[in-house]
Amino acid sequence: MSIAVFASGSGSNFQRIAEVAQQDRWPEPVSLLICDRPGAKVLSRAEKLLIPAYSFVPRSYPSKADYEKDVLALLEKYQIKWIVLAGYMRLIGPTLLQAYQGRIVNIHPSLLPAFPGKNAIGQAFSYPVKVSGVTVHFVDEGMDTGPIIAQVPVEIADDDTEETFTKKIQQVEHQLFPKVVYDLITGKISCPDHLYRNQSKGENQ
Ligand code: GRF
Repeated sequence: MSIAVFASGSGSNFQRIAEVAQQDRWPEPVSLLICDRPGAKVLSRAEKLLIPAYSFVPRSYPSKADYEKDVLALLEKYQIKWIVLAGYMRLIGPTLLQAYQGRIVNIHPSLLPAFPGKNAIGQAFSYPVKVSGVTVHFVDEGMDTGPIIAQVPVEIADDDTEETFTKKIQQVEHQLFPKVVYDLITGKISCPDHLYRNQSKGENQ
């Protein structure tokens, strides 16, 4: 059994987790990258790390369920137990949620529930808050709403720009995310079903 990372963009978190897993010889390796944006930088990172990568075009499918059925077939082929969302810019639908509930985690660059969704760093800057941070959480059907596993605050200094603050966030992410994923695959943390809110709403897609 192993880990699949889903990503849409640069893939620095994917690279970091894959490198730590390889270096530290995790019992369950990162063995698959799923990308929903052909040409994304994360694909070249996967190539360098010799990790199989599959690039999908979700809008070419008649529905999200059809897209996710193809992804699911691939996850089964690679015997994937865990899904790690690292900059995957798409909500997970019922097809994948039902198969992987409690085994999907996401990283988000804010202290949830503040600033969910896109451009969380920009949202924190324009609010403006003095502290934001990083959250890792289990994934449910909502936008950045699942049970929280870990949070690290990051102060926004008076002289920070969005760019300098983004670098601080990335440094924290690259420390925190591999640690949480390792704890997950080794059973140190898990998600009891009752922690999921809105259980019954999972079907509506
Ligand atoms: C990270 O900031 C993560 O929190 C958010 O998307 C970004 C992905 O960055 N969900 P990268 O592609 O891993 O560099």
